[in-house]
Amino acid sequence: MSVSVLVGSQWGDEGKGKIVDILSDKYKIVARYQGGANAGHTIKIGDKQIVLHLIPSGILRDDVICVIGNGVVIDPHALLEEIDFLEKSGYQIKGRLFISHNAHLIMPYHKLLDTIREQSSDKIGTTGKGIGPCYNDKYARKGIRIVDLLNKEEFIRKVKMNLEEKNSLLKNIYHQEELDVNTIINEYLEFDKKIDPYVKDVALFLNEAADNGENILFEGAQGALLDVDFGTYPFVTSSSPTSGGACIGSGLPPTKIDSVFGIVKAYTTRVGFGPFPTELIDENGEKLRKIGVEYGATTGRPRRCGWFDAFLVNYSRTINGISEAAMTKLDVLSHFDEIKVCIGYQIDGKTLKSYPNDVSKLERVVPIYETLSGWNQDISNITNYYDLPSETKNYISFLEKLTNISFTIISVGAKRSQTIIR
Ligand code: GDP
Ligand code: IMO
Ligand code: MG
Repeated sequence: MSVSVLVGSQWGDEGKGKIVDILSDKYKIVARYQGGANAGHTIKIGDKQIVLHLIPSGILRDDVICVIGNGVVIDPHALLEEIDFLEKSGYQIKGRLFISHNAHLIMPYHKLLDTIREQSSDKIGTTGKGIGPCYNDKYARKGIRIVDLLNKEEFIRKVKMNLEEKNSLLKNIYHQEELDVNTIINEYLEFDKKIDPYVKDVALFLNEAADNGENILFEGAQGALLDVDFGTYPFVTSSSPTSGGACIGSGLPPTKIDSVFGIVKAYTTRVGFGPFPTELIDENGEKLRKIGVEYGATTGRPRRCGWFDAFLVNYSRTINGISEAAMTKLDVLSHFDEIKVCIGYQIDGKTLKSYPNDVSKLERVVPIYETLSGWNQDISNITNYYDLPSETKNYISFLEKLTNISFTIISVGAKRSQTIIR
């Protein structure tokens, strides 16, 4: 039996979807525990590309059960659209997808408030999916959960209570049109009929499965540096993508988790605002974006690109407890004569001992780089580690030493077949 948490180790988009799809072969259950439709997890099977936002990437394997834990915030509209898309693509979803009755619902006012707040000067560069406002209500104890849909009267009472506050905000602070309470109620009661067959006590289900010795894989969304506590606050998401979030967001206790698997991109990217010490605002950054096709899977925004940051990944390993990892997108570095790696940060000539979370400090850091030789050849069809050019193996072992992580999977392309297992 093995229960493992898979986490993004940088700022998201490390290639989690691809690796979950590869690993889920060995798992009975794949579970999401945080985030929402802000995630965009891409899986390429043959020439077909599928982007999943809410449903775990394990859904593409017929014998895998997928669950969405209480820690995920669910936009019913996005969920039903995804179910519909998968069903039309030939995947069986009913009986293979379960959603926690404790998960919070993203309401129309969450998306609206997200968009409005993003027009102010303290914008984050969010995905506009209503994530922050929904978690805001959850922790303010005003949120509406899946379970509330099952009790019509209670649901109506909660929508009315929320709208009173939100409409006052919309009208008096943001000078926007108020939302109609009945439209929202009718829309969500319609959703309820469709979502009902998927609702389950996910915490109980996962605990029973773990006790019965089933293999469970948690699929983190976003990445450690977007964690609301450990990331580059306030330029973060509003949930806990780090491995500890898996317990809180699913109801499976820490004593039942065996290992943490990291997904580490061979360079660094970030979408949205916030500090990014190794960012390249030059032709090398442009080249990474072009070769790596670094455009958001959810919003289509160009991703900011930069060199690998070993100081950041080492921090990520520590807070996540990563023991082994997959290095992804190594093929993207194939066309560089020289590749730089950040081995630490300095401020005012002083080398930092630990990763700074204070963004004002992080904005001032100067990365310390080591330069390695590139390999200047296509590696995207190599399936055996020993067939990789010596410079590529040197790059991998250099990163292993700096980050204290062993890379047991090396990904050299988006397809399932472009994967080296060591
Ligand atoms: P996620 O959010 O972590 O699942 O990652 P995304 O799906 O947002 O972004 C990763 C992108 O890189 C997707 O377009 C994947 O198809 C693609 N990808 C994944 N692994 C590799 C790889 O090893 N090489 C290349 N070139 N592309 C990859
Ligand atoms: P996956 O799972 C990359 C970023 C947004 C923004 C910040 C807050 O595909 O790796 P939010 O909408 O969550 O309130 O936005 O977080 N962000 C992501 N960046 N990958 C993601 O997910 C992201 N989800 C959110 O760009 O900077
Ligand atoms: Mg993504």
